[in-house]
Amino acid sequence: MNNIRPLTDPSKPKVYIETYGCQMNVNDSEVILSILQDAGYVLTEDIAQADVILANTCSIRDNAEQRIWGRIDQFKLQKRNRQNVIIGIVGCMAERLKDKLLETVDLVAGPDSYRTLPEMLKAVAPDRPQINVLLSHEETYAEISPVRLDRNGVSAFISIMRGCNNVCSYCVVPYTRGAERSRDPHTIVREAETLFANGYKEVTLLGQNVDSYYWKDEENSNRNVNFAQLLEMVAKISPELRVRFSTSHPKDISDEVIYTMAMYENICKHIHLPVQSGSSIMLEKMRRKYNREWYLERVRKIRSVIPDCGITTDVIAGFCGETDQDHQDTLTLMEEVVFDSAFMFAYSERPGTLASRKYPDDITYELKTQRLNEIIALQGRMSLKSNEKEIGRRLKVLVEGPSKKNPEELCGRASSNKMCVFPSRGEKAGDYCEVEVVSATSATLLCKRID
Ligand code: 5AD
Ligand code: SF4
Repeated sequence: MNNIRPLTDPSKPKVYIETYGCQMNVNDSEVILSILQDAGYVLTEDIAQADVILANTCSIRDNAEQRIWGRIDQFKLQKRNRQNVIIGIVGCMAERLKDKLLETVDLVAGPDSYRTLPEMLKAVAPDRPQINVLLSHEETYAEISPVRLDRNGVSAFISIMRGCNNVCSYCVVPYTRGAERSRDPHTIVREAETLFANGYKEVTLLGQNVDSYYWKDEENSNRNVNFAQLLEMVAKISPELRVRFSTSHPKDISDEVIYTMAMYENICKHIHLPVQSGSSIMLEKMRRKYNREWYLERVRKIRSVIPDCGITTDVIAGFCGETDQDHQDTLTLMEEVVFDSAFMFAYSERPGTLASRKYPDDITYELKTQRLNEIIALQGRMSLKSNEKEIGRRLKVLVEGPSKKNPEELCGRASSNKMCVFPSRGEKAGDYCEVEVVSATSATLLCKRID
C-alpha cells in the first residue's frame, strides 16, 4: 500500500525538511532534496502542506537530541487531520537511536542511506515503518548535485569527505557517520565550477577532518590528491571565487596546507582549529593525539606564514576528571592564542563513546556551567581584543546583503571570516568592496569605504 496520498498537488508530493546540527548536515539536506526532486517530490516550506516531513538530526550533545524529540511530538500533530503524512528522521540521531525512533515515526534513515529514500518512502505504510541505517565505506554522494537551500546565492558548502577515523573519546560522530572516505576531486572541482558559473562567489570545503582528505587514483598513483592539492585545484577555478574550508585537526594540519593558503589570495585566511582543552592531561584523555605545546606550535607556524590569519576554535568545559588546574590551562591557552571566536560547550556524555565506557562524567552540572561561563566571558574579551587589532586595516569584503540593523549599510565577511558592516553604495550580494576598519565590537568590525 502506497502511503503518499491523498496529495494536495496530485502530480507532485511535497517534502518539508528541518535541519539540525553542523554545516555538513545542511549540505546533506541539500543532497536529500536533490535525490527526492529527481524522484518527483517538491520542496515545501509549509509543514501543513507537506506529504513528507523530514528532520535531519544531530546527536553531538544530549540537548540536541532532546530538542528533536520535542519536534517529533509537534510533527505528529500534523497526522491528526492528515493521517497519511509520513514522518521521517534522518541523520546522526537516526543512526544512533534507530530502534527507539522506529517505535514512533514512519521512516528512519542514516547518513549513508539517502539514495534509498524514494524507495523507502514508497514502501511506508501505517504498520510498516521503513529503516535503513547501513553505514558505507564508499558512499560520498559524489555525483549528486545538491539543491541549494541557502538563500543568498553567494556562498555554498561542498562536502569533500564523509565520516571520521579519529576516535576522540567524547565524540559520537565516528559511530553515527562511520569511517572516513574522500570524494573524487574532479567531482568537487566540477561542483565548484558550476556554483561559480551560477553566480556563487564563495565555496567552503567541508569535512570532519579536511586535513586527512586523500584521493587515491586507481590507475595512476601520481594523480593521487591530498588536501593541499585539492585546495589549489579549487582556488585555480577563478581568483574571483573565494575558497574556505572546515574543519582542521591540530594533529593533521600540514605546512603544505598553510603554504598553499599563503600562495593564493582567494583562499581565505581563516582556520577553524578546535583545541577542545588547554590541558595536555585532558587532551590525552580526549584522545586528541596532540598536546598543548603542539597546538601552540601550530598556531605559531600559521601566524609566521600568514600573520593576519583568522583562527577560531571549539572548547569543551568539564570533561571527565577535569581539575581546576586543567580548566585554568584552557583559560591561559585562550589568552595566549587570542582566538577570533569560539564555539564553547559543556561536556555532554554520549552513550557508546570511549569516554562513556572508561571515564565517569564526574564534573557536576553547576561546575561545568561555571567553567563554561568563565570560558565564554574570557572569549568575549579575546574577540574584542582580536577585533580591535583590525582598526586601521584595509580589508576586502564579500557582500552578503544589507546589514540587519540598518538597511543603508551592507554586511559581509573579510578573508579572516570576521563580519564587517559598512555604508552601502548600492552594491548587491556577491560584490566585493574595499573597506577600512574604524571601530570594533566583539562581534563586528565597523568600517568605512575606501573604494
Ligand atoms: N560534549 C560536548 N561537546 C562536544 N563536541 C563534540 N562532542 C561533544 C560532547 N560529547 C564539540 C567539540 C567539537 C564540536 C563540533 O562539538 O568541541 O569540536
Ligand atoms: Fe554534524 Fe556531529 Fe551533529 Fe552529526 S553529530 S549532525 S556530524 S555535529
